[in-house]
Amino acid sequence: MGKILVTGGTGYIGSHTAVELIGQGFEVVIVDNLSNSQERTLDGIEEITGVRPLFERFDLCDTERTEAFFQKHTDIDAIIHFAAYKSVGESVQEPLKYYRNNLVSLMNLLDAMKKHGVQGMVFSSSCTVYGQPDELPVTEQAPIQKAVSPYGNTKQISEEIIEDFLKAGPALNAISLRYFNPIGAHPTGLIGELPLGVPENLVPYVTQTAIGIRKELKVFGDDYDTPDGSAIRDYLHVVDLAKAHIVAIRRILERKQKKNYEVFNLGTGRGVSVFEIIHTFEEVTGVKVNYVVTGRRPGDIEKIWADPTYANKELGWKAESTLGEALLSAWKWEQYYRDHLEKAKQ
Ligand code: UFG
Repeated sequence: MGKILVTGGTGYIGSHTAVELIGQGFEVVIVDNLSNSQERTLDGIEEITGVRPLFERFDLCDTERTEAFFQKHTDIDAIIHFAAYKSVGESVQEPLKYYRNNLVSLMNLLDAMKKHGVQGMVFSSSCTVYGQPDELPVTEQAPIQKAVSPYGNTKQISEEIIEDFLKAGPALNAISLRYFNPIGAHPTGLIGELPLGVPENLVPYVTQTAIGIRKELKVFGDDYDTPDGSAIRDYLHVVDLAKAHIVAIRRILERKQKKNYEVFNLGTGRGVSVFEIIHTFEEVTGVKVNYVVTGRRPGDIEKIWADPTYANKELGWKAESTLGEALLSAWKWEQYYRDHLEKAKQ
């Protein structure tokens, strides 16, 4: 079937993708430095799939260590590269930390890919590359806009690095997947998003408020030019997103790409406001979310949602889950985590 290196595989999207890969019969090797994830995520993956993926803990910025890894695992067929720092706010405070980590690790992997005959890479990109698009829904042809944050800039630069690298080595292959807003957790509730400290993202903040860890959710702005005044995003279930990676990996391994570098938007195609998130969450869980409207968050865009037609047609992939299902799974995970894992720590 194939042996896949999943970098950042103990992280949020990485762990869900590892589960789907194992379910499809792939052999998975996870590399993660655990800078923003926990080793016991491997227990969750094992509980769900019955298979414990191989795991090596190291930093992909360490060139020698990365090379040693590929000398040991000579049979890696392809890489899914999730490992990166992802906090927009922190990247503004510590830009070099972001540029160094996100770009050096990518370049080390690309070097290794070429040297060790790895067929290709699926890269985690983001809709952040579009900024606030002039036209909605946004297609892959929309112009890339100057990044608002160093984090966003690392995604743009990474895409450019990959594209240039492939031009120089036509036998290599890559697919960048531009994610819209992934939310939710595995339906078993055994793995999910695990923000350290105060969550930056909306849905973990909602679930932590609902469970009583946070006093109230701040809705960042109700004066946007949207139907209810709150900002709009395209929220997709993380399991749907994980499945897209399997399709992309197969496309590379089965040499079905139209060209050696391709880009796909991954979203539902539906824009959802912050208030809709709150109300849908309350509806499907029966739990109230305390919230207060505050000012806009600096750097936020007003509205964005995907045109996922290209991924639908070309990859045969579609986001299947409803918003309610995604929010319910996030809630299930929040409860499981607080009930089981947090207590186990004490
Ligand atoms: N929001 C709130 N309150 C909160 C958190 C978020 O109202 O406590 C609002 C935001 O203002 C925004 C929406 O909820 O309107 C979604 O915010 P998130 O932080 O969950 O997601 P973003 O769209 O800001 O960011 C996400 C990813 C980034 C990526 C970006 C691209 O987290 O990694 O999409 O647009 F760069």
